[in-house]
Amino acid sequence: MAARGSSSSSSSSPRPYQFIVFGASGFTGRFVVQEVARSSAEAPGGTLRWAVAGRSRDKLQDVLQDTAEQLGKPELQSEVEIIVADVSEPDSLAAMCKLGHVILNCVGPYRFYGEPVVKACVENGAHCVDISGEPQFLESMQLNYDAQAASGGVYIVGSCGFDSIPADLGVIYTRDQFKGTLTAVESFLTASSGPEGACIHDGTWQSAVYGMADGDKLKSLRKKFNHKLLPVVGAKVKRRSALFYSNEIQQYTVPFMGSDPSVVKRTQRFLFEEHQQTPVQYGAYAGVGGMSSVIKLLFAGFLFFILVKFSFGRKLLIKFPEFFSFGYFSKAGPTQKQMEGSSFRFAFFGEGYTEGQDPSQGKPDAKIRTLVQGPEPGYVATPIAMVQAALTILTEPEALPKKGGVYTPGAAFAKTSIIKRLDEHGIRFSVL
Ligand SMILES: NC(=O)c1ccc[n+]([C@@H]2O[C@H](COP(=O)([O-])OP(=O)(O)OC[C@H]3O[C@@H](n4cnc5c(N)ncnc54)[C@H](OP(=O)(O)O)[C@@H]3O)[C@@H](O)[C@H]2O)c1
Repeated sequence: MAARGSSSSSSSSPRPYQFIVFGASGFTGRFVVQEVARSSAEAPGGTLRWAVAGRSRDKLQDVLQDTAEQLGKPELQSEVEIIVADVSEPDSLAAMCKLGHVILNCVGPYRFYGEPVVKACVENGAHCVDISGEPQFLESMQLNYDAQAASGGVYIVGSCGFDSIPADLGVIYTRDQFKGTLTAVESFLTASSGPEGACIHDGTWQSAVYGMADGDKLKSLRKKFNHKLLPVVGAKVKRRSALFYSNEIQQYTVPFMGSDPSVVKRTQRFLFEEHQQTPVQYGAYAGVGGMSSVIKLLFAGFLFFILVKFSFGRKLLIKFPEFFSFGYFSKAGPTQKQMEGSSFRFAFFGEGYTEGQDPSQGKPDAKIRTLVQGPEPGYVATPIAMVQAALTILTEPEALPKKGGVYTPGAAFAKTSIIKRLDEHGIRFSVL
């Protein structure tokens, strides 16, 4: 079994591959393959031993050929192995997991395909990172596999893409930069695109449709953890309304619907319970733009919330993503030009108490503003974040939590150099 520490030593382990990219033929998987190929010199010893995996050998061969051509690295076709594995065939997953230190799992929607991969990793001693933005999947993996992963020394780290690395590590970065006790942070996400606009691939749309349909199950899942309430330290931060004009980012803004609040809260709970760190209250918001964008969003959101409740409505949403999202999601995904013109910006507004001030008395007496910004979120920033998360597991095992388990990025990587790594790869953290 790949216990803590053994994964970093490429020479002492019999496992042939340090990384296996599973779902390498998917829209996102292809970009992850490119990013692994670009980053392979960052592995211990300067060369990464890696393989691609999926259910179709032909598709995987195409991926390697495309990647070799695009990066001008013909050797990839002979040096990178292909592993055939299918989520519906547990033996194939077990065989794959026995061959790798870290599985980079790109097969989603995770609510349908994710659990057998986590199970196979835990049972066969492979660490795993995924790019799920689905709280129900992420939290149920923690509930069901944390103890087993801990006893096997296996690290399962979910949400290592745009969901939710910038938010989760952005809060940790803000806390680390604050001189005193940081007690609350609000983040405001804005996305920019070039003249060709922006677009997200259908895979994420499907995850959102099925995730929203199952919203009620999340509440009952959370009860099973039997968590105590996290203490509110410092002045309580008010939740903002469902739509408001934000002076912080000078545009209309809504609460962020993705996995960030769930992931940040789990991280803050872990840091409080395991390391007695003050939990930071967190509110996540996303900029919508001007009034015309608000009207579009209200219309699309209304239709989405109605249709997602019924099986026939979900079928319609899944069949016509472009129509129901005003072209923002599509089966073809973004073009290269759209990706080149897109970027994201997370602005964090934190408050707390300077050194010597008691957070249980009075109002916060200091503020901090930080930024996390980077390239196109879905298919440029996500592969960067996922690959750097996997490299962190491979190269910094001593800085991971003492025990294996099912972790958020912030819980797994708070003591590692991942922020510096991300910064060096274009996901930049700064104090304003
Ligand atoms: N965190 C983020 O910000 C972020 C960003 C991008 C994507 N994502 C998530 O990543 C996931 C994938 O998205 P995508 O757009 O890349 O979707 P996609 O193009 O549909 O890719 C899905 C992948 O899963 C594979 N697959 C499906 N069923 C399988 C099975 N039974 N066994 C083995 N492999 C199987 C597919 O294989 P075939 O190629 O053989 O069909 C394909 O490689 C989604 O959950 C999405 O939400 C998250």
